[in-house]
Amino acid sequence: MVDRRAAGEPLEHVLGWTDFCGVRVDVDPGVFVPRPRTELLVREAVAVARPGSVVADLCCGSGAVGAALIAALDRIELHAVDIDPAAVGCARRNLDSASTHVYEGDLYEPLPSTLRGRVDLLVANAPYVPAHAVRLLPPEARLHEPLVALSGGQDGLDVVRRVTSEAGAWLAPGGHLLVETSERQAPSLVEIVAGSGLAPRVARRADLGATVVVGTTPRGYPDADSAPRGDGS
Ligand SMILES: C[S@@+](CC[C@H](N)C(=O)[O-])C[C@H]1O[C@@H](n2cnc3c(N)ncnc32)[C@H](O)[C@@H]1O
Repeated sequence: MVDRRAAGEPLEHVLGWTDFCGVRVDVDPGVFVPRPRTELLVREAVAVARPGSVVADLCCGSGAVGAALIAALDRIELHAVDIDPAAVGCARRNLDSASTHVYEGDLYEPLPSTLRGRVDLLVANAPYVPAHAVRLLPPEARLHEPLVALSGGQDGLDVVRRVTSEAGAWLAPGGHLLVETSERQAPSLVEIVAGSGLAPRVARRADLGATVVVGTTPRGYPDADSAPRGDGS
């Protein structure tokens, strides 16, 4: 293990796990290592969730975000998607519960159509590094994490643009889209979110170097968080 680490393999791949938001998460070699900054995405999701929330985690990687949400929230129904078979295998181990479903495929494509209009929280830590900046990442990322987990195309926003443009079709009234991004990309993402009909706001945590853009569906009650729900919660 020391030899592997000394040769530059990420510590989390050598150990086979990491701590994310207080939850032990398996991380297989070749799978994106959950970053501490993604704690903000989890916190923002927890802040707007309710018991029984239907959650979709697009670009789930190891399933770290979903595992942290399950640990923090009461009986959520979680649907997690990743395009990379290695990530999906890892997520299936980390998200092994009856109310959790892990799918392999491209963003919304593998989700059951019965989820349309029912998703309370749509979370995505999609790849958002601009293609030209991938070579500037530390070698642990560049050499040991797949390009599909890092590169978000020319301006870094290709995948989140696709996530955002379809979000309205899947979100329930008063539902929230939560996307991790960078400080620099946040203004562009706010425009993209607003352009797709969601009300945007930005959350930041300087100590984590974290930025999350939240988009909320304007339909339903003016104050969706206090709106009564059919299930009585
Ligand atoms: C930055 S990693 C984040 C993983 C995880 N959400 C986390 O925070 O640890 C991005 C993930 O998105 C996946 N991905 C990239 N493009 C995708 C697509 N079109 N559909 C589904 N997953 C995708 C990658 O395989 C990778 O696991």
